[in-house]
Amino acid sequence: MDSILVKGNGPLNGQIPIAGAKNACLALMPATLLSEEPLTLTNAPRLSDIKTMTELLQSLGAEVSSLQDGLVQALSSHTIDNHVADYEIVRKMRASNLVLGPMLARLGQAVVSLPGGCAIGARPMDLHIHGLEALGAEIELKDGYLHAKAPRGLKGAVIQLGFASVGATENIMMAATLAKGTTQIKNAAREPEIVDLADCLKKMGAHIEGAGSEVITIEGVDRLHGATHPVVTDRIELGTYMLAPAICGGEVELLGGRLDLVGAFVEKLNEAGVDVIETKAGLKVKRRGDRVKAVNVTTEPFPGFPTDLQAQMMALMCTAEGTSVLEEKIFENRFMHAPELIRMGAKIDVQGGHATVTGVDRLKGAPVMATDLRASVSLILAGLAAEGETIVNRVYHLDRGYEQVVRKFSGVGAQIERIKGS
Ligand code: UD1
Repeated sequence: MDSILVKGNGPLNGQIPIAGAKNACLALMPATLLSEEPLTLTNAPRLSDIKTMTELLQSLGAEVSSLQDGLVQALSSHTIDNHVADYEIVRKMRASNLVLGPMLARLGQAVVSLPGGCAIGARPMDLHIHGLEALGAEIELKDGYLHAKAPRGLKGAVIQLGFASVGATENIMMAATLAKGTTQIKNAAREPEIVDLADCLKKMGAHIEGAGSEVITIEGVDRLHGATHPVVTDRIELGTYMLAPAICGGEVELLGGRLDLVGAFVEKLNEAGVDVIETKAGLKVKRRGDRVKAVNVTTEPFPGFPTDLQAQMMALMCTAEGTSVLEEKIFENRFMHAPELIRMGAKIDVQGGHATVTGVDRLKGAPVMATDLRASVSLILAGLAAEGETIVNRVYHLDRGYEQVVRKFSGVGAQIERIKGS
């Protein structure tokens, strides 16, 4: 298995291009199931999760008609001859559950394995199920699979989500585009990926209002048509690379970066002593002093501080001046990176959903294990701030969410290389 070797680094300087958002693309791709006509996505990231979604859609009968350099994904679903999303594919990635709503809306039936994905908590699907049931679906769990039927078609309804779940909002919104009448999703997730999906669905002929706010209203239509849509910038990749100069010093410009995608995160960076300036091409990041200051962080649904940047922020806090408390409110089990950071000399005390981090002058390189997607990149960031060499093992997690990670870091001067495993 491959690993990544990182050496403690001085200041980083240069530019890093930011890719299209993995999480947006994983919701946009299943939208192809809603129409017989082709959907073309530009700016699609080159990631193993995107490959997994491609395989899943192909297994259902969709065609991926072109893939030029990974930057264009053209999908076509004129015939869907299978309505079973198999465990062997779904177990690789939780976002596979996003085929449920579209299949149900288009075919009136879907059988979808309960998902796997990152081991960061229980991650149930009750909100997806209740939402789709409110639209008239009958759903049963049998042998690890959700069996969903809508023999009389779906019907608009008012759905109040108990939690602003990203996936549930996406699944319900896609299903509702072809339901009869009006659907309202209350306490909807407001993430930029939701807005991106709604924009694409609107291009396909859906009637959607309010995406990006707490209430989304969808007026069902009889059919959707083809469209071309550019995937929104990946705000998590953006935030991750913004931390590189915050940790190592120097000045890095993130090409394609947008402040509106990372507002709460930038506020915390500013508080810690890192400047973020808007440029014509994106965002420029520069640390003010030699060391950042400790800041407290609480993860929340958008527009709050994203849980997907918590591990990376913890890496920054490990060498900050003072003590910070990071509170995780989205996933109950998302501090698996803490023991690995402790192996590198970090002072972290985890109690339930809180991690108290006392900054040290310098971390020390060590062999560490990536436990999930965001944890793995936090270990690379920590390795850049450490004395000596760090080897990050189990990098397949990284390949799920960061394209060309070695090239992007080394392009700004980081000493990092991928070591081929056996
Ligand atoms: C998406 C993102 C993921 C991110 C997360 C939160 C994708 C592909 N993934 O995941 O990177 O970390 O949003 O920003 O977009 N929950 C329930 N019942 C449900 C659904 C969710 O209890 O039916 C809980 C989950 O266990 C979790 C919380 O709600 O504690 C957030 O989950 P959700 O917003 O649904 O995340 P995902 O869509 O899975």
